[in-house]
Amino acid sequence: MAQVSLRKLVKRFDDTEAVRGIDLDIADKEFVVLVGPSGCGKTTTLRMIAGLEEVSGGEIAVDGEVVNDVPPKDRDMAMVFQNYALYPHMTVFENMSFGLRLKRYPKDEIARRVNEAARILDIAELLGRKPRQLSGGQRQRVAMGRAIVRNPKVFLFDEPLSNLDAKLRVQMRTEIKRVHQKVRTTTVDVTHDQVEAMTLADRVVVMNRGRIEQIGPPNELYHAPRTRFVAGFIGSPAMNFLPCRLEEANGALRVRLSQDIALPVPPTRAERYRAHVGRDGLTFGLRPEHLPEDRGNGGAHAGAIDAVIEVAEPLGMETLIFFRINEVEVCGRVSPTAGAREGARLRLCAGLDNMHLIDEASGHVI
Ligand SMILES: Nc1ncnc2c1ncn2[C@@H]1O[C@H](COP(=O)(O)OP(=O)(O)OP(=O)(O)O)[C@@H](O)[C@H]1O
Ligand SMILES: [Mg+2]
Repeated sequence: MAQVSLRKLVKRFDDTEAVRGIDLDIADKEFVVLVGPSGCGKTTTLRMIAGLEEVSGGEIAVDGEVVNDVPPKDRDMAMVFQNYALYPHMTVFENMSFGLRLKRYPKDEIARRVNEAARILDIAELLGRKPRQLSGGQRQRVAMGRAIVRNPKVFLFDEPLSNLDAKLRVQMRTEIKRVHQKVRTTTVDVTHDQVEAMTLADRVVVMNRGRIEQIGPPNELYHAPRTRFVAGFIGSPAMNFLPCRLEEANGALRVRLSQDIALPVPPTRAERYRAHVGRDGLTFGLRPEHLPEDRGNGGAHAGAIDAVIEVAEPLGMETLIFFRINEVEVCGRVSPTAGAREGARLRLCAGLDNMHLIDEASGHVI
């Protein structure tokens, strides 16, 4: 049982303000992921929650009790770092039980907890081995096991997967999700990998320069980003951004991207956008996956864009294509059978139901 609240949390290091007033309520049993570019304050936030870093302002509360002055060992939280170090001379069992032995837990209680954690992590047959006899992913699980046996109120993970190769990372991601489904401990995970954030989180917290840009379930961040930063950060390949103008003709709106390209805005959005007709400083945003080849079902070439392909990257299940609109590089995702080749012309169909309009001055999605 643990509910964690951050209130106007601030951290200053000499002249840098690493965390600039964060408000976040983490529910009991929730899995929250802090994601953002390098240096945005993720680790600092996590370390403040753990008590490893003093707060410069604001409050941290656990189950309603302010813990600002509670030392780390009394917060009942277990942190797993990116560079988790296992004791090389100890077996897996000894590594996992080390903390409990220090606290003089009874032997049978230690054995019960270690065996239970090993079962959850599927490393029961490795308990007698030394770390050097384990693969990277198995070592990672032992590090998680050390946290699990403590049965803490909160798990804090700081990029626990970033040292693993791509395949193992995907495996361990699933592993972490499975563990959380079993133990249901409130978890705060930190990553700069947006795919990890999306796949693991109940809610994702997107951070940028010490502030929170947006908090929401993964699908909400993907479909309804509130700022240009979130729109560009979530999703891979990243959303395309193009300067645009809104035009009105016979009551219908169009987004003009170039002399030749003006795409029809869906009537459902007309109300929201109408006040911005004709003004400067607008950016059109569309994800590559909403820019596939025209399959003739777009209705009178509704959002047709004729692309001259500069680069084609076949990925097997799809092909990424890169072309230009007014000098700006744009990425589309087409079927491997669409005939995408360097230099070829291809008609694409822009899925305007998924478009975004951004006010450049404020960085907000309209
Ligand atoms: N002990 C420190 N002294 C001074 N500045 C620090 C200290 N720790 C962190 N910072 C600064 O605070 C800011 C946030 O750092 P933090 O480690 O929280 O970033 P992060 O989001 O975890 O980044 P990364 O993805 O690279 O791990 C950075 O500008 C960093 O240089
Ligand atoms: Mg960090």
